[in-house]
Amino acid sequence: MQHFASDNYAPVHPEVMAAIAAANDGAAVSYGDDPVSARLQDRATEVFGERARIFPVLNGTGANVISLMASAPRWGAVIASDVAHIHTDENGAPERVGSLKVLAVPSVAGRIGPDAVDRYAGDIGNVQRAQPAVLSLTQVTELGTVYSVADLKLLADAAHAAGLRVHVDGSRLANAAATLGVGLREITTDVGVDVVSLGAAKNGGMLGEAVVVLTDDDAGSGDAAGPTGAVPYLRKATMQLASKTRFVSAQLLALLGEPGTPTSGTSTSGAAGTADGAPLWLRNAVHSNSMAARLRSGIEAAGLLEPGTGVRVTYPTEANVVFATLPRAAADRAREHARFYDWAPGESADRVEVRWMCAWDTTASDVDDFVRAIAAAL
Ligand SMILES: Cc1ncc(COP(=O)(O)O)c(C=O)c1O
Repeated sequence: MQHFASDNYAPVHPEVMAAIAAANDGAAVSYGDDPVSARLQDRATEVFGERARIFPVLNGTGANVISLMASAPRWGAVIASDVAHIHTDENGAPERVGSLKVLAVPSVAGRIGPDAVDRYAGDIGNVQRAQPAVLSLTQVTELGTVYSVADLKLLADAAHAAGLRVHVDGSRLANAAATLGVGLREITTDVGVDVVSLGAAKNGGMLGEAVVVLTDDDAGSGDAAGPTGAVPYLRKATMQLASKTRFVSAQLLALLGEPGTPTSGTSTSGAAGTADGAPLWLRNAVHSNSMAARLRSGIEAAGLLEPGTGVRVTYPTEANVVFATLPRAAADRAREHARFYDWAPGESADRVEVRWMCAWDTTASDVDDFVRAIAAAL
């Protein structure tokens, strides 16, 4: 099937499949007390730092809800961008399941700044107001942009200064690290992030993601009195604990790499397979990012960037997705070649904003054929 619809349309990467098959070796203790999950924990400390504790879960919404519940009291609130997945695309799960109000703040190209914290800091201590307890950032943002290391540090410092914890929805954390040419630790632990929802499904996994608690020594201790000691209980209570957790752990391990292997690698070369010895998360992210860059430049090189009549790219292409507006009729014709989603209304009634997303399995010829299809549709 031809598509530029979503990175979760992609098949499972063969190395992930092989890891699942390798984990299918006789009986193992259930609920995460198995050798594969133990190796994953060892690997998480190598990748994210000594204090990191990793909890495999079933999906990204679950990872977000558990992360937020673990970081806020029942009367708490979460500050996030107005386009945050937790705000717009989780059917209110943080509110319904987590009892946490999401305080949405205006974003610019998907990003928010430290003023997001200032906006609600005055509510702290006011019993009339849901208590701001967490700043949640999405990295890569929902609009395909990436927070720089410096921006993340500023945001985390502002949140901590106001007494808030910092959560990163890292559904596409790998793509952000690949863009920035840094490891996963540099954009999480090292800038002061407290808890991460670590994506896998969009990066070549089958199903499953993880909550990674970075800064709390109680994490996973089973001491539910501590804020993040609660994660094991929350994972069960929110129905996110797989009895055969080893098969989720195997996927995460395939992506992060086995203990003792490089945690990062040359990531900015822009082509799959050129990141020597790099872990799979990075190879897949470098590749999907490079396909979006090819799509973006292909559209330009084909002369399709024509405001009003042709394509108008709406956000910077910083990771694995291109957002653009074009005439609705042309979008529908291009869709006969490859499936993709409408994202928002366009500048006028006859134009629409679309999202063209690339994945680990998108090929250069998929992209080039799609550029030709858009040209023909226009
Ligand atoms: C930014 C972001 N966060 C979280 C999720 C949630 O993932 P899931 O569909 O696995 O619940 C998605 C899925 O599209 C996403 O794009």
